Amino acid sequence: MPTAVAVADFRSFPLISALNGVQNLAEQVLIEWADGRISPFHHVWLRDNCPCPDCVYSVTREQVFEIIDAPADLAPAAVRIDSDGYLRIDWQDGHRSRFDAGWLRAHAYDDDSRAERLAAKPRAYLWRSDLQLPVFDYAALMNDNAALLQWLIAVRDIGLTQVRGVPTAPGSLQLIAQRISFIRESNFGVLFNVQSKADADSNAYTAFNLPLHTDLPTRELQPGLQFLHCLVNDAEGGESIFVDGFAIADALREEDPPSFQALCEIPVEFRNKDRHSDYRCLAPIIALDALGRVTEIRMANFLRGAFETSVEQMPKLYRAYRRFIAMTREPRFRLMQRLNPGELWCFDNRRTLHARNAFDPATGARHFQGCYIDRDELLSRILVLQR
Ligand code: OGA
Ligand code: ZN
Ligand code: ZN
Repeated sequence: MPTAVAVADFRSFPLISALNGVQNLAEQVLIEWADGRISPFHHVWLRDNCPCPDCVYSVTREQVFEIIDAPADLAPAAVRIDSDGYLRIDWQDGHRSRFDAGWLRAHAYDDDSRAERLAAKPRAYLWRSDLQLPVFDYAALMNDNAALLQWLIAVRDIGLTQVRGVPTAPGSLQLIAQRISFIRESNFGVLFNVQSKADADSNAYTAFNLPLHTDLPTRELQPGLQFLHCLVNDAEGGESIFVDGFAIADALREEDPPSFQALCEIPVEFRNKDRHSDYRCLAPIIALDALGRVTEIRMANFLRGAFETSVEQMPKLYRAYRRFIAMTREPRFRLMQRLNPGELWCFDNRRTLHARNAFDPATGARHFQGCYIDRDELLSRILVLQR
């Protein structure tokens, strides 16, 4: 007999409340928990989630069974709670299932259980100019997984962090970024060098000011995390500025609902081209999730194409666009700080907009290195560190 796993997962599920009673109804099994909660589970759902070695491969913990291979009206012949506290089901077709109570509770879909899980989900902490900037120490992040986890949670929930004590040798950024995951390469390199240069292929590589923006809005998937590491900063000017794009979008929704709606609905083109590449992406500036919450901001005025929308919509789009940019310039939202050599910013590029003031290359050198990591890698790393 192949090794059995209790659950189709690599972690265990604490027993929040034991199984107290079980009843088999026409289409569902009704569980009563020791704390009084009642959770219905449909027969089809239970059969689909059977973790037995015939249904789930114990090595990958992935399903090999497909629900279509069980009869549509399959029902239990018998249900019971065994002496170890598991739910046991003997199915009418002879198949047998055993469910871990902790796993069942963690996946129960009665209204209370779903509401509880929704409330426990990590939530974006929205911030304004008075943010207490979360600052982390390079050596701790490199050596201590607990410190690393604290940092990653701050990146996830606040979307802006600073790390100090980073070596200023070029390439050092790669070592700390790889504490999270592999780097997302782009046409600007694995690491990109932010330096004023004569043959600039982006305004970023000049000494101009860069207004508040996200990087690579020209891609279907904008990079999730951005790092900017300061190696040299002797030039006058060049201060970093950040705003919480989610906080601005929420304020816009309150203060000017038609503009908010226009930015959610009307797609805008972003483009970036040089002799060898031509990237374009057409998408609205504000993206919402299925629950109507803001999940992404896409914005870089210097990478934007000409607006193309209907004659009726054009004035609405300009009104909304002006309003959004005006808000990014409001002091209530802006955090400004000059980055010193050995410091880096790590922020959520799909949420936190960043800018830099113009600098004067005649007064000294300025050299930053940057890179990107996707949000999926951050979230996966957090979950594995939490196991
Ligand atoms: C960039 C950028 C910021 C800076 O390169 O996209 O935003 O401080 N740079 O130079
Ligand atoms: Zn099975
Ligand atoms: Zn940028």
